[in-house]
Amino acid sequence: MNPGRFITFEGIDGCGKTTQLRLLAEWLRKQGRTVVETVEPGGTDIGRQIRKILLDPANTAIHARTELMLYFASRAQNVEEVIRPSLAAGHVVLCDRFTDSTLAYQGHGRGLEPDTILALDRIACHGLRPDLTLLIDIDLETSLTRARRRNARSGQEESRIDDEHASFHARVRDGYLALARHEPARFVVIDGRAPIDAVARRVAEEIAARV
Ligand code: TYD
Repeated sequence: MNPGRFITFEGIDGCGKTTQLRLLAEWLRKQGRTVVETVEPGGTDIGRQIRKILLDPANTAIHARTELMLYFASRAQNVEEVIRPSLAAGHVVLCDRFTDSTLAYQGHGRGLEPDTILALDRIACHGLRPDLTLLIDIDLETSLTRARRRNARSGQEESRIDDEHASFHARVRDGYLALARHEPARFVVIDGRAPIDAVARRVAEEIAARV
């Protein structure tokens, strides 16, 4: 039996990880693997309801700790309902964001204590950790340009988080790079400024070498 593999995609807004996750899913399916795609926050019916609260631009009154617990509430549901059962069945699970997002955004971005975040992680995830994390890294300018383009194209209002100041995103990016330096065996950092197909090839090479 093929053991399940838990692979997460991380990076600042506009880095292209969602596109890369889809391309990797297609590629793995061509190799004959069963792939389960999921997303944080979201990924389950309950998670999608929580996601609405988190990303609603009207919710300016949300406290940083409230936000933190809602991200973990969505994650706990995803772990129990989707991720663990899929891994137990031997599938490859690709997750768009996981606890590294919380460490980067709520920890480095908003200044919440990493110990608090890791304590909630133990409650929500019961020790489940990604086997491999692909950090799609772009600089801040590229992130802001892509976010503006994306919002203009979809005619959408910017999400509450996209709205925030550039210095916040700079801290988040630095946080991600620090996490990757701290755990080089789990993280692969991939330059997300290259064309989509070039990034996809890099991702597939890394997966082929490791999974
Ligand atoms: P989304 O529209 O899915 O953005 P993206 O396509 O960049 O993933 O919104 C998710 C937002 O939630 C994103 O700005 C990052 C933020 N987030 C956190 O702040 N903490 C978390 O733990 C997670 C999972 C996401």
